[in-house]
Amino acid sequence: MFGNKKIKPQIDQEQLELIQNAQHRVRQKKRLYFHFVLFVLGALAMIVANLALGVREDITPFEKPWFVSAILIWLCLLLYHVLNVFVFNTFMGKAWEKAQLDKLIIDQKVRIEKLKNQLEKEDIHIARSKLFNEQTAIKASNQITTQKNTLTIIVAAGENNEIGKDNKLIWHLSDDLKRFKKLTSGHHIIMGRKTFESFPKPLPNRTHIVISRQENYSAPEGVIVVNSIEEAIKKTQNASQAYVIGGGEIYKQALPFTSKIELTRVHHTFDADTFFPEIDLKLWKETRNEFHKKDKDHAYEFSFLTYELLLEQS
Ligand SMILES: NC(=O)c1ccc[n+]([C@@H]2O[C@H](COP(=O)([O-])OP(=O)(O)OC[C@H]3O[C@@H](n4cnc5c(N)ncnc54)[C@H](OP(=O)(O)O)[C@@H]3O)[C@@H](O)[C@H]2O)c1
Repeated sequence: MFGNKKIKPQIDQEQLELIQNAQHRVRQKKRLYFHFVLFVLGALAMIVANLALGVREDITPFEKPWFVSAILIWLCLLLYHVLNVFVFNTFMGKAWEKAQLDKLIIDQKVRIEKLKNQLEKEDIHIARSKLFNEQTAIKASNQITTQKNTLTIIVAAGENNEIGKDNKLIWHLSDDLKRFKKLTSGHHIIMGRKTFESFPKPLPNRTHIVISRQENYSAPEGVIVVNSIEEAIKKTQNASQAYVIGGGEIYKQALPFTSKIELTRVHHTFDADTFFPEIDLKLWKETRNEFHKKDKDHAYEFSFLTYELLLEQS
C-alpha cells in the first residue's frame, strides 16, 4: 500500500568492525587447519616416497634421509603459522592496534589540555602585567600618588550590565540600598554630574565629589566639584575610604584606578540606556558571593559580589 520500502540493516560502525574481525579470524583458522592437513599428508607422502619408493635415497643431509630435514623445515613453517594465528594476532591484531591508537589519542588529548592551561596562564600574566603598566603610566601622567585607601566601585547591574534609564535607576531593591548606605556612610563618594542630579538632595553623612566639565557648575554647600576623574581621585587620597558610585561614564573612566568592585548583580535583563563596562575576569577575582532570593520587598533575585583586582606580579 505504501510501496515496497527496503529495510536497511541498522548496524553501527563498532558492530561492523566486530563482525569483520570475526570473519577474518574464521578465515585465518580455516587456512591453518588446511595447512596442518596438507603438512600431515605431505609428510606421509615424503616418507613413503623415500622409504618405500626409494626416491632420492642418495640425499642424506646430516646423515639422515632427506625427508627428515624437509619435514622439520615444514614443521617450523607450520609452527610459525600457528604463532601467527594464535599469538601475534592476539598481541598485534586489530583490537591491539585500536587499543594502542586509543592510548595515543588519550595521551595527545592530555598534552593538548596541558598546553591550553599553560597558554591561559600566560594570557593572564600578560594581561595583568599590561594592566599594571597602563595603570602605573596613567597614575604617573596624572601625578596621582599612592592612595591611602582602596578606591572601590560600587554598582548594581542587571545581567547585561544595565545600570540606568532616563537618568534613573531601573529597580528598587531595599537590601541593596541598605548595603550601599552601610558601605558608603562616613566616606568620600565620587560621581558624575548626571548621577548627582538624579538624587533629590545630597546623601547624608558622605563627602560628595561631583565631576563635571562645566566651569561654573553650582552645587550645594559641602559638595566638591571637580573637572576630571583624576582630580576627583586626588581629592580622596587622604580619605579613609572612597567609593565611585557612578554613573556609566564615570565607572568607565574610574575602572583603571580601581582595585575593588562591590557589584550587586540583579538576575534579570532590563531595558536600559546606561551600562556598566565589561570587566576582564582574567584580572578580577570574585572574593564574595551572597545570593538573595526574590521576596515581597525585592522584585528580582540578586547577588552581592565582590571583585578584587589581581595585580600581584607572580
Ligand atoms: N545601577 C547603579 O548602580 C547606578 C549607579 C549610579 C548611576 N546609575 C545610573 O546611571 C545613569 C547616569 O550615568 P551617565 O553615564 O549617564 O552619567 P554620569 O556618569 O553620572 O555623569 C556624566 C557626566 O559626568 C561628567 N563627566 C563625565 N566624564 C567627565 C570627564 N572626563 N571630565 C569632566 N566631567 C566628566 C559630565 O558632566 P557635564 O555634562 O556636567 O560636563 C557628564 O555629562 C543614571 O541612569 C543613573 O540612575 C546607576
